[in-house]
Amino acid sequence: MAVLVTGGAGYIGSHTAVALHDAGREGVIVDNFSNSSPKAVDAVRALTTDSMVMVEADMLDSEAVARVFKDHDIDEVIHFAAYKAVGESVDKPLDYYRNHLGSTIGLVAAMVEAGVSKLVFSSSCTVYGQPDVIPVTEAAPTGAESPYGWTKYMSEQILNDAAAAVDLDVVLLRYFNPVGAHESGTLGEDPNGIPNNLVPFVMQVAVGRLAKVMVFGGDYDTADGTAVRDYIHVVDLAEGHVAALDALAGEISGCTAVNLGTGVGHTVLDVVHAASAAVGSPIPYEVVGRRSGDIEKIYAHPAYAEEVLGWRSKRDLADMMRDHWNWQRQNPNGFR
Ligand code: NAD
Ligand code: WQD
Repeated sequence: MAVLVTGGAGYIGSHTAVALHDAGREGVIVDNFSNSSPKAVDAVRALTTDSMVMVEADMLDSEAVARVFKDHDIDEVIHFAAYKAVGESVDKPLDYYRNHLGSTIGLVAAMVEAGVSKLVFSSSCTVYGQPDVIPVTEAAPTGAESPYGWTKYMSEQILNDAAAAVDLDVVLLRYFNPVGAHESGTLGEDPNGIPNNLVPFVMQVAVGRLAKVMVFGGDYDTADGTAVRDYIHVVDLAEGHVAALDALAGEISGCTAVNLGTGVGHTVLDVVHAASAAVGSPIPYEVVGRRSGDIEKIYAHPAYAEEVLGWRSKRDLADMMRDHWNWQRQNPNGFR
């Protein structure tokens, strides 16, 4: 039996394909390479098995998706495939709604048709916006502030409704800020163009592709005035997906939302300093104005993940920066 990993050539999916193999499961990757490279699949195979199956297909192509279920003995699914740029979603909302809602609805229909009932879904802490209470628990109110965020909010609702109506059990994993890379340095994040996210930007400054880090906002109500996030090592996150599948194979049923974070908040300057320590030289930065749409502070309450999944993060910020740097240093241009 195998785990269908949609978006498995992407950043989190590729690390999860490795974690699945390490835990004794095998993935069947489906990806259209809209935001990834076949070389990521080569890297996954090099870390796991040459026989790891990769199907190049669009999750919106219902015939292709049905064929994957016919051709392979799938009994569990992890749905990563999506676009992920919050700013781009404001400019191209229909692309985001079509891809995210279309792929999720089509996938569930194909699962029902094939009699597959276990699904792990990539959601996001973005559904919390700026929570009133931090650390944020799964019971906090949800909503959205961008088309990207709405697609996650709506997908959660669709999956809740589907799980109540058909034979489907779902874990909605609300990720905080994934960073880091596989410890080998052969697999990591490879953003297109100038990175939007902090850590890829910092690391491209460290390899000389960019001149200096722009720190967005120095006047927040935080220890050093810069915004606070819950950065989580991508391998911890990947292991959280294995734990979610184990939980679905055991007690958990219906549709359950779970935070995947460390429970620790770090400021932007904490990250720049930790990256400088990993790199071994100071990374130049300048504090500039706030980025529109940014929140001041968020980090996870991680207790529910431990309770229902038996999972907690193991790696700290220094580990994240060491591994991200190891990847970036060995692959200054990513997979390109
Ligand atoms: P990524 O872009 O690296 O991976 C997504 C993969 O999905 C890519 O390989 C892309 O080619 C593929 N894809 C997109 N649309 C597809 C389609 N229609 N058919 C087939 N493949 C398709 O992104 P990631 O960081 O690995 O994110 C994975 C998931 O986690 C996404 O759902 C994202 O929204 C969610 N998420 C990411 C973050 C983050 O900060 N990285 C945080 C919270 C949630
Ligand atoms: C982190 C902090 C920036 C870049 C985004 C999505 C969220 C989720 C994770 C998908 C912020 C600051 C950044 C830079 C900076 N993704 N920053 N200079 O915004 O917390 O979350 O990714 O679900 O939905 O919104 O992550 O890495 O962009 O920013 O100072 O060049 O770093 O202002 O405070 P964010 P990020």
